[in-house]
Amino acid sequence: MTVERIEKAFLILSAAMLIAFLGALFYSSVAMGMHLPGREGEIVPTDVRNTPPFDQPGVHEVGAGEYEVVVLGRAWGFEPSEIRIPAGSRVTFISTATDVIHGFHVEGTRMNAMLIPGQITRLTYEFDEPGEHLIICHEYCGIGHHLMYGRLIVEEGS
Ligand code: CUA
Repeated sequence: MTVERIEKAFLILSAAMLIAFLGALFYSSVAMGMHLPGREGEIVPTDVRNTPPFDQPGVHEVGAGEYEVVVLGRAWGFEPSEIRIPAGSRVTFISTATDVIHGFHVEGTRMNAMLIPGQITRLTYEFDEPGEHLIICHEYCGIGHHLMYGRLIVEEGS
């Protein structure tokens, strides 16, 4: 093979990879519905605990099988640290952080967000299967980062 042919082969390979990656990106965003959580508003980051709904962290039933869970991320835990909802619920998590940036990932789901002081993050998910999910912080937030976790328990249908 001449140098030109090798170069051409690499150019074609690079172009094919770019097209494949763009295709995968397009597929995941359009066909699988993956996207970044939207910015759902701003609050004063130093006054989170006095700002509704964050003055009442916890699980709130808002309709038949519909729940809102207000979650606060802080160094180094989630409030509430344990969330219990019945199977078959549609749950909207409304969350923010009180101090520094934290992560919010619910194991076994596609829920993965950043909790940013002053920004409200909203995620909705349907929990059909009973079980237990670990909630972890996936943004390094200081010396206790690895201790920051919570639990989400989906209880047998009601
Ligand atoms: Cu919070 Cu890492």
